[in-house]
Amino acid sequence: RPMRFFHFEVEQKNVTRLCHTRSLLTINGQYPGPSIVIHEGDHVVVKVTNKVEEGTTIHWHGVRQYRTGWADGTAYLTQCPIRPNTSYTYRFTVEGQRGTLFWHAHHKWQRATVHGAFIILPASPYPFKSPPIHAEIPIIFGDWWNADPDSVEAEALRSGGGPNVSDAFTINGFTGPLYPSCSSHFTQDTFIQTVEPGKTYMLRLINAALNDELFFAIAGHQLTVVEADAVYTKPFTTTAVTLSPGQTTAVLLTAGHPSSAFFPMAIRPYVSATIPFANSSALGFLRYTLPGAAVAGDGGANLPLTLPPNLPPITDAQFANEFSGEFRSLASDHFPCLVPKKVDRRIFLVIGINLQDCCENCTCLGFKGKRVASSINNQSFLLPQVSLLQSFYSRSAGSIGGDLSLDFPDRPAHPFNYTGTSFGADNMNAEYGGRLLKLEFGERVELVFQDMSLVVAENHPMHLHGNNFFVVGSGIGNYDRRRDSRAYNLEDPPERNTVAVPRGGWAAIRFTANNPGVWYLHCHLEIHATWGLAVGIAVENGPEVEQKILPPPADLPLC
Ligand code: C2O
Repeated sequence: RPMRFFHFEVEQKNVTRLCHTRSLLTINGQYPGPSIVIHEGDHVVVKVTNKVEEGTTIHWHGVRQYRTGWADGTAYLTQCPIRPNTSYTYRFTVEGQRGTLFWHAHHKWQRATVHGAFIILPASPYPFKSPPIHAEIPIIFGDWWNADPDSVEAEALRSGGGPNVSDAFTINGFTGPLYPSCSSHFTQDTFIQTVEPGKTYMLRLINAALNDELFFAIAGHQLTVVEADAVYTKPFTTTAVTLSPGQTTAVLLTAGHPSSAFFPMAIRPYVSATIPFANSSALGFLRYTLPGAAVAGDGGANLPLTLPPNLPPITDAQFANEFSGEFRSLASDHFPCLVPKKVDRRIFLVIGINLQDCCENCTCLGFKGKRVASSINNQSFLLPQVSLLQSFYSRSAGSIGGDLSLDFPDRPAHPFNYTGTSFGADNMNAEYGGRLLKLEFGERVELVFQDMSLVVAENHPMHLHGNNFFVVGSGIGNYDRRRDSRAYNLEDPPERNTVAVPRGGWAAIRFTANNPGVWYLHCHLEIHATWGLAVGIAVENGPEVEQKILPPPADLPLC
């Protein structure tokens, strides 16, 4: 099979945004990082050389990594960080996946600047009807921090609160004209995509922002969704899209025959919590190549500095929830939907924000002298200082594995009214821990994520490494199995790697645990993962040789 080789050098680079110059962690000096474009079936080899003074890892978000968990790039889950002045080569095959994914650093808050598109071109023609696609354009949503994201993370851990709001949102790294800029070349800070009238484009949308779900829209244009998380969907047309951090979506855009040359496009956060904590928007433009049309000068003359009227308002939960509800698998002969119709195991995970006893050197917030934390079934996940995959692997090979604990609770110890407003309840305290949830090879699993409103109800984009899953149901309020499982979609549920669990509600997913390894399951809001909304899922080897994880590579970084 074809081998595709890439070299990533992690290096510092000065970048200026919002009139603020900062030395960023970058790959090959690029911000956002380079796109990787490969074909379905390729064997991918990425040598990562660390030329900065801290450890790092690169995660191939959404790549299944069948039997190659060592290449998943998750710090302390599947490897120890790559140390300064050393290299690690990620080797994996991309099979049975096609479309839009991304890669990002998976150590501390480094993914703020270390991320880029990962595009898998299909081996067979697109299954949807469309005019010829003139160009495919990756569009990465991100955010810009004037502060060093590491110090923001440290503050969030120390105070259990602290600032977690970026200073601007970005489209392909550009902040756009609604933010202050000191550049006299106004349009240099703005993403402007040129299109030709009458042509069709595929926009590959990626939400790489750390802590915000985002709405995206282009004035005067509709978008047709055809793929999400590198799986085709039944096409549907929409005026705007919602993307949670960790989600990717390909949309088709047909350029019309307009009379004006510029159309605004924008991202704006979807703030599901009751307290809006970010309210700014990044603006970019679609620029038509119309004969005789004026080109925007550096002063930005001719640019309509208004948000697209079709961009949903910041608290539009209805749009966000309805939009996620539109996704369906193709479920065709060629792309069948392999959702388990029956399951062997049901797991109920209560997720959300709660409190913890204050720690030494922590500044604790007002309530009962405690700090804000996040948890799953009251367990606030702490990353160990070893690679859990290594411990799990050496344990199953019969030698020492450390004191690996595989007894993560698969339901809450005490059921309560998860979505009642019960701030101040006495059972808010979470335990710190590093227990793993163990699955047998081949087990068909249903996981229900239930948001809780002890401190504040919030939308949680739950992401699973190493496996796609099917979103069979979702709703508002407390999950009730007898009632809610009757409404499951077991015909054509969407297949994804990140599900937006609605604020004050639940989502049910199903998958077959047939990829041995240790896989991180976490909220892709970085602040929540930092506070402990995470767990590792350990999947045992299967009985056959081709159902076992491959041996670790010789250059795997050690702790
Ligand atoms: Cu985008 Cu744990 O990953």
